[in-house]
Amino acid sequence: MSTASFPEGFVWGVSTSAFQIEGATSADGRGPSIWDTFSADRAEACDHYHRYPEDVRLMKDLGMAAYRFSVSWGRVFPEGRGKPNQAGLDFYDRLVDEVLGAGITPYATLYHWDLPQALEDLGGWPSRDTAYHFADYAAALHEKLGDRVDTWFTLNEPWVAAFLGYGSGIHAPGRTSASDAFKSAHHMLLAHGLATRALRSAGARQVGTVLNISPVLTPAQVSDFTRELSDEDAEVVARIDALANRQFLEPMLRGAYPAELLPIIERSAGLGHVHDGDLEIIAQPLDLLGVNYYTPLVVQAQPSEPADPAFPGSEGVLFCTIPTAVTAMGWPIVPDCLSLLLRRLSREYPDLDLLITENGADFVDVVTGNGIHDTDRISFIEEHLRALRAAVADGARVRGYLVWTLLDNLEWTDGYQRKFGIVHVDFATQRRRLKDSALWYRDVIRRNGLAETRRKRPTLETVAARSGVSRATVSRVVNGESSVSQEVRAAVLRAVSELGYVPNAAARSLVTQRTNAIALVLSVPRQGGDALTAAVVQYVTSLLEGAGKQITLMLADTAESHRRIVQHVESRLADGVVLLPPDRADTLTERLSRTGVPLVLLGKPAIASMVPYVDVDHTGGAAAATQHLLALGRRRIGMICGPMDLVAVQDRLAGHRTALQRAGLRPHLAIADDLTRASGAAAARRLLGDDPALDAVFAATDQLAIGALQAARETGRRVPEDLAVVGFDDVDAASATTPGLTTVRVPVADQALALARLLLSRLEGRHTTSVVLPARLVVRESA
Ligand code: FCB
Repeated sequence: MSTASFPEGFVWGVSTSAFQIEGATSADGRGPSIWDTFSADRAEACDHYHRYPEDVRLMKDLGMAAYRFSVSWGRVFPEGRGKPNQAGLDFYDRLVDEVLGAGITPYATLYHWDLPQALEDLGGWPSRDTAYHFADYAAALHEKLGDRVDTWFTLNEPWVAAFLGYGSGIHAPGRTSASDAFKSAHHMLLAHGLATRALRSAGARQVGTVLNISPVLTPAQVSDFTRELSDEDAEVVARIDALANRQFLEPMLRGAYPAELLPIIERSAGLGHVHDGDLEIIAQPLDLLGVNYYTPLVVQAQPSEPADPAFPGSEGVLFCTIPTAVTAMGWPIVPDCLSLLLRRLSREYPDLDLLITENGADFVDVVTGNGIHDTDRISFIEEHLRALRAAVADGARVRGYLVWTLLDNLEWTDGYQRKFGIVHVDFATQRRRLKDSALWYRDVIRRNGLAETRRKRPTLETVAARSGVSRATVSRVVNGESSVSQEVRAAVLRAVSELGYVPNAAARSLVTQRTNAIALVLSVPRQGGDALTAAVVQYVTSLLEGAGKQITLMLADTAESHRRIVQHVESRLADGVVLLPPDRADTLTERLSRTGVPLVLLGKPAIASMVPYVDVDHTGGAAAATQHLLALGRRRIGMICGPMDLVAVQDRLAGHRTALQRAGLRPHLAIADDLTRASGAAAARRLLGDDPALDAVFAATDQLAIGALQAARETGRRVPEDLAVVGFDDVDAASATTPGLTTVRVPVADQALALARLLLSRLEGRHTTSVVLPARLVVRESA
């Protein structure tokens, strides 16, 4: 078979990390790490501490050339410093011998996020001393392993360790301080410099570090990298790139922080922690940069957006959800961003060698009788390898590729539910089983390349024809059912292997009764509300299609259509249903929920039900809008409500009322018959007629608010001087009115993503609860 080959000597391997696989957390004198303290899951992980010979054998069988593992600092120094723990050192000694014995080159990472708890108790990474303890630890480890380990990586993804550990607090040690996050980042950089110097003077052959570098793009650029940006978007993209990527790249490789970052750091943390001479220490020459790539960062300018705690200094930046295929983590799959990234690094740092130290994906694996056919993972890796190869062809200096990861493991805060391994682990028995992706990767390694053309998947029909049986029989065999005779089974399996057939959802569905079809049921949207519905439908459809589902759109507008829809679902022509429930109380939700087919709703239904839904916080959003008007000193506030049978309108009114009550004020309402601008204008005129001194209007939707702006103009009121106006929804038109409309943003894409995820979890039979997303105030000129 012709292959799309990689350069000779291209290094193929896998990466793992200590805390995620080793287990044995209290064995042989290991000291606890911040992750032992922080993690809610038991940390037996894959018991690799005891089972490493088996794991190394697996790597050997798969033909790996390199194995990147990390060392648990607390196994080597239980207190993080002082006297080393001989038993801990001995474990890594045995591991390295085992790896070398299998003909695999070991790459050691010194810090993959598991700081000894004793050092956290002394101040953790915000304390400068930690950097010096790290260098001592690096030297001690090199003394033990340096005769056999040639390649050393100081840190893994310091951005994550500093900003998720000390900024947003979603990772260990769970602190939430922008100042601590920036100090941690600097001390990690210093630790890297000091350790690199120590390793080099001890004779280490190759020293590098590992960064998670994410291309930063706007939503429009995701499909067209060359897309020109507005000045506002360009500034936002550059700022996030500085925070996420250049904060680490430039001190390490150029000896300076990016200029635009310094004022941000200074504002949050001062600059007292950056000592004279630090940057020279940090900028040690590097032999190799490890690049971890999973997904891009997608942002756009949004002036009223508050900073994300993981990116202190990101005021005015909206982190966007994009309608692409995603992994089970919800991470958009954009392989071309890997080429983009490699081309950029090769252009900016032409002398630097690169290694992909992590790339891989979490997907829901279906474990069948004859294996784990993780075709999604195979295509993920294959597409990324094609992107990598394209960059190499353009001259990017990439030495190799390491898959994340060998084993299903303990994925930090997400625990064991995430499946990144190419080897399946049954955590009850610790049994390892190769997934199809492992076997496929073995073949890639063997031929040092990919098949020239993407494999045309042989179908169920081809296998049935080749083995002379029906499709249903083939399906039974690949699903491991016992009702098939030995001979037929053998014939089918022969055909499967000759054709290289990978069973897919269709094959599974014949036996599992799965159709892979999802019914997306729309009730007729109210006039004015259809733009939102259309956007959500578009996003939900593309997300579910990205997850391999087929969408059937069904309109629920008449009693007859309701009957047809219920019948369709009852006959199991859909695996799941997404319903945009009607505004008025009706029985469709209830009838669909009785079919037993997983059902999720967009929006809280009019009649309370047990069916989980995704909605936004209408009450909180309306309260925030009203408080905003109060804070501007407005006291004579009127509200334009829409038709009162709309659940969202009821909630928006409730939020408005509560905020007024707190300020000792009473509501002053006008009801619009529908959601059109004309009705909004009429309602505003009524409010102004009742109270000519009215100084603010809060409208239940943007369309109604735009009507109110019209009425203000007609009655000679200046907005906002005489009359402040606030809407709700942040429809496209809201930013185009004069003056721009202050409103409450309903996150459309996030709702769609949450809805798609909710449905996928229900399809997997997981317990699910409703999701209510925050609605944020977007301040423009009208108030
Ligand atoms: C990277 C980490 C690794 C694993 C993968 C999914 O950020 O380095 O430990 O969690 O993500």
